[in-house]
Amino acid sequence: MTQQIGILTAGGDSPGLNAAIRGVGKAAIGHYQMHVVGFRDGFRGLMENRTMALDGGQLSGILTTGGTILGTSRDKPHKMPVGGKLMDMTNAIVGNYRDNHLDCLVCLGGGGTLKNALRLKEKGLNVLTLPKTIDNDVFGTDITFGFDTALGIATEAIDRLHSTAHSHHRIIVVEIMGHRAGWLALGAGIAGGADVVLIPEIPYDVNSVAEAIRERARGGKPFSIVAVAEGAISRQDLAALKPAKRKKQDDDTAADAAELLYAGRTLRLAQQLEKLTGLEARLTILGHLQRGGTPSAADRILATRLGTAAADLIAKKHYGVMVAAKGEDTRPLKLEDVAGKVKTVPPDHAWILSARRVGTNFGD
Ligand code: F6P
Repeated sequence: MTQQIGILTAGGDSPGLNAAIRGVGKAAIGHYQMHVVGFRDGFRGLMENRTMALDGGQLSGILTTGGTILGTSRDKPHKMPVGGKLMDMTNAIVGNYRDNHLDCLVCLGGGGTLKNALRLKEKGLNVLTLPKTIDNDVFGTDITFGFDTALGIATEAIDRLHSTAHSHHRIIVVEIMGHRAGWLALGAGIAGGADVVLIPEIPYDVNSVAEAIRERARGGKPFSIVAVAEGAISRQDLAALKPAKRKKQDDDTAADAAELLYAGRTLRLAQQLEKLTGLEARLTILGHLQRGGTPSAADRILATRLGTAAADLIAKKHYGVMVAAKGEDTRPLKLEDVAGKVKTVPPDHAWILSARRVGTNFGD
């Protein structure tokens, strides 16, 4: 019997989403003669049964485009804002899955999407996920699609900031996305030759950062680039966080509280460095620039590999997994084994060791 599959994209958008939708869709329709339907705006669209036909027409011409043709949202099935209240809409989602006669729902997303997909699996739905996010923090996969593109954008930004920092003898602090992981700041910091890289995995001491900058100035380089992951935190701030707020909770309220508490901390860091070094400091926040635009060749290839592997698994009725990238291969990993886990940068990671060898300061 012809298999019917649904696709949705959830969480923050990421370059390569359209390439992945195309990969799943073209393999499913062209190779396996399945039917494919898209749901708009993540789990909200599935709850509201807002669909988009995905056949040959919609899947053409999207390989190179940024964003997602389906739209996305951060809504969670079990906590969805409806009429001003947070409601558990899981039953409506299960109902629409059944009404659309789906054999499988493919969810393209990051860590939050994995947890939501697992909840739906526990309600008896056949689900499958693909790991996307510019943060590269999905557990179990070598890499997520979107990361390579964002890395290129952040690296180019550091390149551009270098020449102006040099000309004005300034410190330029550049804030890079990554949520609670430092992959993007670390990668762009290494590739762009940042003098200081601050990541959440290595709490920093502002005095150590200032001393590294003063040392450069004494050596005849009165300018510095400080690449800061948005989740980076100083030792002092970490100590000030109450233990209860540091405890990881399922709904991430602890992390949200920490984020609120430290909103604006990169600006504060720039001000502190200016004071401690006597050099002028400027702040650049790259923000959503890192998520926009054309996906890199590497992301297009990765998204196509993962998308087509998803169609292969569905054809074999192999559900309930995330399709992970492993070297040149892909591997299905049970949702139970990956959901709720975060892939952060190990402090002894090879990238960090190499960066230290070339004199990068981590503020520790
Ligand atoms: O997860 C991707 C990401 O871009 C993070 O790096 C960042 O913290 C977050 O999303 C921003 O989310 P939003 O687009 O909802 O502001």
